[in-house]
Amino acid sequence: MLRQITVQKKTALKTASKEKTVVRNNRICVISITSGKGGVGKTNIAVNLAYLLAESKKKTLILDADCGLANIDLILGLTPKYNLYHVLKGEKTLKETIINGPGGIKILPSSSGIQEMSSLSMAQKFILQDELNALQARPDFMLIDTCAGINDNVLYFNMIASETIVVVTPEPTSLTDAYALIKVLYQRHAKKRFSLLVNMVKTPNEAKEVFLRMAQATNHFLNLAIEQLGYIACDDNIPRAVKQQKLLAELYPDSPSVKSLRAVADKLCQPRPEQEGSGTINLFN
Ligand SMILES: Nc1ncnc2c1ncn2[C@@H]1O[C@H](COP(=O)(O)OP(=O)(O)O)[C@@H](O)[C@H]1O
Ligand SMILES: [Mg+2]
Repeated sequence: MLRQITVQKKTALKTASKEKTVVRNNRICVISITSGKGGVGKTNIAVNLAYLLAESKKKTLILDADCGLANIDLILGLTPKYNLYHVLKGEKTLKETIINGPGGIKILPSSSGIQEMSSLSMAQKFILQDELNALQARPDFMLIDTCAGINDNVLYFNMIASETIVVVTPEPTSLTDAYALIKVLYQRHAKKRFSLLVNMVKTPNEAKEVFLRMAQATNHFLNLAIEQLGYIACDDNIPRAVKQQKLLAELYPDSPSVKSLRAVADKLCQPRPEQEGSGTINLFN
C-alpha cells in the first residue's frame, strides 16, 4: 500500500507543529519508543536518549517494556536482582526494583523468557499503574521501550504514554508495519500524536523520503498528521557499543548518531505540542 504512494515533495503536508504548544512545567513526560517491526533500534535509542536527557539535568526513568524479551540491562552490562515480574507478582515495590544506570538514569528492568509477561493481565496493568503513581522520586521523563508489533502489551504501553515515538528504518517492511501500528492506535484507541524517528539511514535525503512516505500515507488514508522528530544515520559505533555492553553516548559521545540523538533530546526538552487526543491512560496523577 505504502509503495503506491509516490514521493511528492511539494505536497502540502499537514504538520503536527501547527498545533498549540505548551510549556511542560511540572508534568512528567511519558514517552513510548515503539515500532511495528523489531530490530529497528528502539532499545539503543531509548537508553541513549535517557542518558542524553539526564545530561540536560532531566531526571529520567526507562521502563523496559519488552516484557517477554527484555534486554536493556543486557546492553548496559547490568545484572539487576529484581525486575518488573517481581513487582507484578507483588513481591517487590518499584522502589526496590529500579536500578541506577549510567549518567544517573534510573532503569526499571524487565524479565526475559517468561511467557506470562508477554501479555499482561488487567490486574497486572493496574498494579503497574498503582506502583508508578506511588513513586516518591518522580522523574521528569519516563521513556518506555516497548516490544515491536501490535500485540496487547505494545498497545497498552503506548496508551500509557503521552507521546509516542515510532522508530522506522528505510526498509519497506519497517514502514508498512509502523503504519499498521499507527493505524490501530489511532483508529481503535484514539491516539493522535505520533512522531517519527528514522533510524539507519544512509543520507539525510533518505530520511526525508522515508518521512514523506509515511506522512503521506497517514495523511491520505487516516487524515492524520505526524511529526518528524529526526533521523539517525547508520553508525558502526552502535553495534560496537552493544558488543562491549556499554552505553554508546558514553563511549562515543562525538559519533554522528549521538549528535542526532542529542538533537532529539533537545527537541523533547522544548515546549511540545499539546497532547490533545493522545488517548492515554493518565499516569502520575
Ligand atoms: N543507527 C544504527 N546503525 C547501525 N546499527 C544500528 C543502528 N541502530 C541500531 N543498530 C543495531 O540494530 C540492532 C537492533 O537494535 P535494537 O536497539 O536492539 O533494536 P530494537 O530494540 O528495535 O529491537 C542492534 O544490533 C544495534 O546495534
Ligand atoms: Mg528492543
